Amino acid sequence: MNDTSPAEGSSPERPPRATPPVLAGRPPSLVDDSRKDASQKDASLEDVSLEDVSPGDVSLEDVETPAALIDLSRVRRNLRTTVDYARAHGLAWRPHVKTHKSPELARLQLEAGATGLTVATPREAEVMAGVTSDLLLAHPPVGPKIPRILALPDHVHLSVALDSASLVDPLARAARAAGRTLGILVEVDVGMGRVGLQEPEQVVALARSIASAGPELAWQGLLFYPGHIRLPQEEQSSLLTQVAERLGASLDALHRAGLPPATVSGGSTPTLYQSHRVPGLTEIRPGTVIFHDRDSVALGVGTLDDVAYTVLATVVSTGVPGQAVVDAGSKALAKEEFRALSAGVAGGASGGGGYGILLDRPDVRVASVSEEHGVLDLSATDWRPVVGERVRIVPNHVCVSVNLQDRLLAFDPEAEDGTRLREILLPGRGRLRIGSP
Ligand SMILES: Cc1ncc(COP(=O)(O)O)c(C=O)c1O
Repeated sequence: MNDTSPAEGSSPERPPRATPPVLAGRPPSLVDDSRKDASQKDASLEDVSLEDVSPGDVSLEDVETPAALIDLSRVRRNLRTTVDYARAHGLAWRPHVKTHKSPELARLQLEAGATGLTVATPREAEVMAGVTSDLLLAHPPVGPKIPRILALPDHVHLSVALDSASLVDPLARAARAAGRTLGILVEVDVGMGRVGLQEPEQVVALARSIASAGPELAWQGLLFYPGHIRLPQEEQSSLLTQVAERLGASLDALHRAGLPPATVSGGSTPTLYQSHRVPGLTEIRPGTVIFHDRDSVALGVGTLDDVAYTVLATVVSTGVPGQAVVDAGSKALAKEEFRALSAGVAGGASGGGGYGILLDRPDVRVASVSEEHGVLDLSATDWRPVVGERVRIVPNHVCVSVNLQDRLLAFDPEAEDGTRLREILLPGRGRLRIGSP
């Protein structure tokens, strides 16, 4: 294996400058511009400034690091694996786009079989309205977010999840004023202790108030997020049983109350392939699985060969013995703790602390970071890199690393021009309303 991108090793040739800029514009294989709607066009307009500052013609060896690389063939494989699993178990697949923030990658998910998309912010909803008409906001809409989500393009059917009765009236009034219907899911806490009602009686009471709020609110069902399950798949049984019991109690109570849920939305990447063990589940919302990360690998839900997102970095110093310093620090990798709770494998993807590992040398960890420096711990390897050498880093948690990038650079090893880099923009990042100054 290589210490740099496989694409780099396979063909060092640089695309000639006469061809269209390899980093400008969107790849035809990812985007059909004719299918964009108004909000999508707005998103592209906003990004004109980014295009202006991006180099026009860059091959991999010329890319300034740190840079986020996407292996599109691995992305496609991860999507196929997910949709195959979902179909085999009769589950709808509504991927969470907070991982990638990109309408182009969302479109790949929809083309692969996603029934709609999950978003966390109004901004993500506005951007993703350009590629789907079926959105779920899996975050309680409070305050100014309410009018904003009701101003989404008319073609969008929007559902929102909440756990507070205080949101029912404001949502019903705003939906009435906007002349549209909102689907409402009630969030149940299945053990994470973040958002969600605790008792089945509370769930029934909130479902009743939604069902009786008027035609603008459509009682749709339940939502949960098992984000506390960060154990290897084979160790998840008892926590999954707890999820099934807590969810089951609310489902039973709703059936008894004559309010059967049409939708039961759950799932995460660590529990992805265990989702069928939760009775009553109708759809899954994994996000991370599109790229995977060090956490996924440690939990066994993906392997290093499935990791589709890496941060390309350059060794800039070997001055201190036993370590090498790269130019990717917390502003490229994020300073997110390793969250996998795997019992005890030391080193590599599944053990130890740090902020990432090398894709091709998983025994090398990014042991510490400052903003623009990452310190590679060389204590477990004979490898001694030289200044200028490039490495690909698998971050602990990919979603927060993506959110730090201006763009992603995608290559497709299966394509004829496998070394060509294609720019993927991330208009779902940030908070501003699409089109606002
Ligand atoms: C509400 C909700 N649903 C789904 C997901 C996706 O989970 P994962 O990133 O493990 O795929 C998240 C992740 O934060 C979430 O907060």
